[in-house]
Amino acid sequence: MNTAVHPDVIQAEERAYSARLRRAQADTLRTPRRRYGLATRLLIKGMDPIYGRSGSFAKYQVLELIARVPYQSWERIAYLAISRVHRDTGLARRIHDRIEESRAQQDNEEWHLLIMSDLAAREGTGQGWLRYRLLPQVVATVYYLLSWLLFLIVPAASYRLNADFEDHAEHEYMAFVAAHPELETRPWDCPEAASYGHFASVADLVRQIGCDERQHKDESLARLAAPRLR
Ligand SMILES: [Fe+2]
Ligand SMILES: [Fe+2]
Repeated sequence: MNTAVHPDVIQAEERAYSARLRRAQADTLRTPRRRYGLATRLLIKGMDPIYGRSGSFAKYQVLELIARVPYQSWERIAYLAISRVHRDTGLARRIHDRIEESRAQQDNEEWHLLIMSDLAAREGTGQGWLRYRLLPQVVATVYYLLSWLLFLIVPAASYRLNADFEDHAEHEYMAFVAAHPELETRPWDCPEAASYGHFASVADLVRQIGCDERQHKDESLARLAAPRLR
């Protein structure tokens, strides 16, 4: 029996998925940004003179390097918490569920980082040692410590900080695609990132990343109701 899917079916599925991504982009673009806290505003404003005010794959590579670290800080804190409360197996299990969520978000951000780095490298941008190696690591370390400290003192503030950052990333990506119609016809073919998904164009790929950021934001906002597990 021939079980191969007809190319017309694959193309129809691609078109339907592409239409869903475009609707998600329109949703983001008509939704106002959150009122960002001081740390997020400083980060955004601080990046502009160094990486340019307008978006670029080189700049987004830096953004994605920083985006992973709140999840790393939460994961680390949760593992330490399990060391303390493991006799309460119900609580330990609930903390472990949060670890799994943080890990999934972190892995997703890692895909974004690899993809943005690949796109920047293809353009020959984002290569400088100071601006794209050292400085992002320094900022990521400070951001990690901030996220970690906030989580220990006021966990809701750590989730709110992340929701602001994710909201910024979501709006950035969706606006970037709108400003760059040439991405609609640029194919996406990076074998190393094939398991992230198949997309008809770089525009759809970036829209998907924008959708991921929205999901991360919503997950952080959902945690505000009960930030500390008991
Ligand atoms: Fe991301
Ligand atoms: Fe994200």
